[in-house]
Amino acid sequence: MARVTPVVDFPDRSWAHDGPTRGVEARVEAGEVLRFPYLPFTLLESELRFRDPRWADGKAKNISLRWPSGEMRGAVGNASELAALKAMITRYAEQSEAFALRLFPHYRGHLARGNTSFRPVNITGRVTSWRKDDTRLHVDAFPSNPMQGTRLLRVFCNVNPTGRPRAWRVGEPFEDHAKRYLPTIRQPLPGSAWLLERTGITKRRRTEYDHVMLQLHDRAKADKAFQQGSPQAHVDFAPGTTWVVFSDQVLHAAMGGQHMMEQTFYVDVAHQQRPETSPRGTLERLLGRELR
Ligand SMILES: [Fe+2]
Repeated sequence: MARVTPVVDFPDRSWAHDGPTRGVEARVEAGEVLRFPYLPFTLLESELRFRDPRWADGKAKNISLRWPSGEMRGAVGNASELAALKAMITRYAEQSEAFALRLFPHYRGHLARGNTSFRPVNITGRVTSWRKDDTRLHVDAFPSNPMQGTRLLRVFCNVNPTGRPRAWRVGEPFEDHAKRYLPTIRQPLPGSAWLLERTGITKRRRTEYDHVMLQLHDRAKADKAFQQGSPQAHVDFAPGTTWVVFSDQVLHAAMGGQHMMEQTFYVDVAHQQRPETSPRGTLERLLGRELR
């Protein structure tokens, strides 16, 4: 029977410690989308002006902060404008971090803060190659940035002012997806990981796990029949909605929307509550061997 990634709703109205939902590691690790329809990221009066594509420099698809330095990239404006923009994005980083630690106390001490980004640019109309086209269903995996098994946990919030939802498609559960393509994925050529790292194409060694994940990403995006005919559901995230996923596990496609906040966290697979449910654990179980 065809299965689709579950989306589960939670009643939280606060980012802080007093919210009701906590200890839901098992749900996010199972590959569910955790949706919080009553959890807006509130902008200050002076920040409302930032919901405009003119603050993006046009080169990157978002304005982002890198940690631990807090350096901001992709924005244009004068010094005081940029400082205010940075303060807004920093507040999102801090709120979503406190929130993630309440939802997933098991990750405390092991949750590393990745980039925080603000996307004031419309999704549609961006011209990209098929491989970069995020309107196609995919799991997150990057050619130059091998994760080596580290998980990608993401906290999104739609801050659109005109009622427009962030529109996603979600696809089949990860295990079904892996079974679809694993039989035709070959092992990497001997020495290729060394060469990719040596020539600077990858930031670190592309492990066999990374190779398989990148193959899953690429096969799915290149497969028109899969994109159109595989088990999937449309999911709208209305303005004021926050949602949390392991984006290296949940098959997703961003179909439309404008003005979104996004925080990435890294958590090592070993620090999951149930590491065996991770993409790596699932792939190793299906293959009957370790992926190094
Ligand atoms: Fe993605």
